[in-house]
Amino acid sequence: MALITWTREQFGTNVSVHDQEHQSLFERLNNLDSTLASGDRGAIGAALDSLIDVVGKHFASEEANMVKSGYPGLAAHKAAHDKLVDTCVDLQKKFHAGAAEVTPETTAFVRDWLYNHIPNIDKAYGPHMNGKGIV
Ligand code: FEO
Repeated sequence: MALITWTREQFGTNVSVHDQEHQSLFERLNNLDSTLASGDRGAIGAALDSLIDVVGKHFASEEANMVKSGYPGLAAHKAAHDKLVDTCVDLQKKFHAGAAEVTPETTAFVRDWLYNHIPNIDKAYGPHMNGKGIV
């Protein structure tokens, strides 16, 4: 069973590029979560790296559209992004150094972050970007 499922009702921002990126991000998170049971550190590490890569690209994409549209909530939104990236990169370094593991609590943490961030923080930029022609 998937850890997280994208629906327009729960996660739609009305900005198509970011909705697509969120769906891709969910796929990578679900892939990491389903890989955990294997105990295969190589596969888990690859799935972790892939997720973090997509997260970084997505945050950069959103921030670029916030800059482009003159979004007033950029600074606070970027701070939330940076905090998650710092947490993820710290885990990534420790995992590859053999000093930490990726666990179901890790993937649940990211899922819960997304459950909060997309509906409460991301969705707020939708009307602003739409008004600037970003749809
Ligand atoms: Fe879709 Fe602000 O992350």
